[in-house]
Amino acid sequence: MSSDSLHNQVILVAGGTGGVGEEIVRYLLEAGAIVAVPSRSEANLQRLRDYCADAGPGQLHTLVQEMSTPDGADTVRHWLLERTGGRLDAVVAALNGRFYGKAFHTLSWAEWQDFLANYITAHFLTARTFLPLLLERGAGRYLMINGGAATQVYPGVVELSVAASAQLAMTKGLALESAHSGVQLASLVLYSRVATRHEAATQPHQLTSRQVAERAGQLLTSTEYDPNHVVHDLKP
Ligand SMILES: NC(=O)c1ccc[n+]([C@@H]2O[C@H](COP(=O)([O-])OP(=O)(O)OC[C@H]3O[C@@H](n4cnc5c(N)ncnc54)[C@H](OP(=O)(O)O)[C@@H]3O)[C@@H](O)[C@H]2O)c1
Repeated sequence: MSSDSLHNQVILVAGGTGGVGEEIVRYLLEAGAIVAVPSRSEANLQRLRDYCADAGPGQLHTLVQEMSTPDGADTVRHWLLERTGGRLDAVVAALNGRFYGKAFHTLSWAEWQDFLANYITAHFLTARTFLPLLLERGAGRYLMINGGAATQVYPGVVELSVAASAQLAMTKGLALESAHSGVQLASLVLYSRVATRHEAATQPHQLTSRQVAERAGQLLTSTEYDPNHVVHDLKP
């Protein structure tokens, strides 16, 4: 299926201000989607709007709102449904937390809480808040962006693997629980650093954010689906 099928689709991109997320947002706008992006930061949203100013024919809606509390996620849902007349066709979760670069057992309580809130809890609340809207319709796509740390562990950033493997379990579990619902879930696992507008490539073979966005677009429009095989690797 072509990216034409994204035209007029209402798509929430959680993490749409991030290095990976903003390219997905731009790609979806170019394909004619109606894209909604929440962020904790008005400055980040302004940067996204500037980057996407010439990316049509889609429409971009933005809201300053955190997604790591139930109230925060509910606020995004109310805003989104009001903006789109009650429609949601797909969710892309490209959320990421801050990593600390130290031995796992030396993370402070505050660092651990911050990490949980802005990665695992934000993913959980995004699914808990928006997946039901797709399930009620009996259609739609839910795509989570993940990294190779989901299957590999690196000293000094163990929290990254703790979060990424938990995220992978969420995708697999939600897919099995939604197997006969008509909703398709997927995880796109990126096996390299991603060269973005903000972080140039440092190695010869690295994924680019545009490659990630194009693959995400394919997964959002693919009609091939097996709830037992929802993990899709992307390598340079
Ligand atoms: N970048 C890479 O090289 C790379 C490589 C492999 C895999 N990945 C994967 O790609 C995905 C995205 O990574 P990234 O590098 O694009 O991350 P990033 O640039 O750090 O962006 C993180 C995004 O998450 C949002 N976010 C975090 N907590 C939030 C909260 N509580 N409420 C609302 N939004 C929240 C941030 O929004 P605000 O800060 O604007 O609120 C931001 O949009 C992750 O799954 C990561 O594992 C990235």
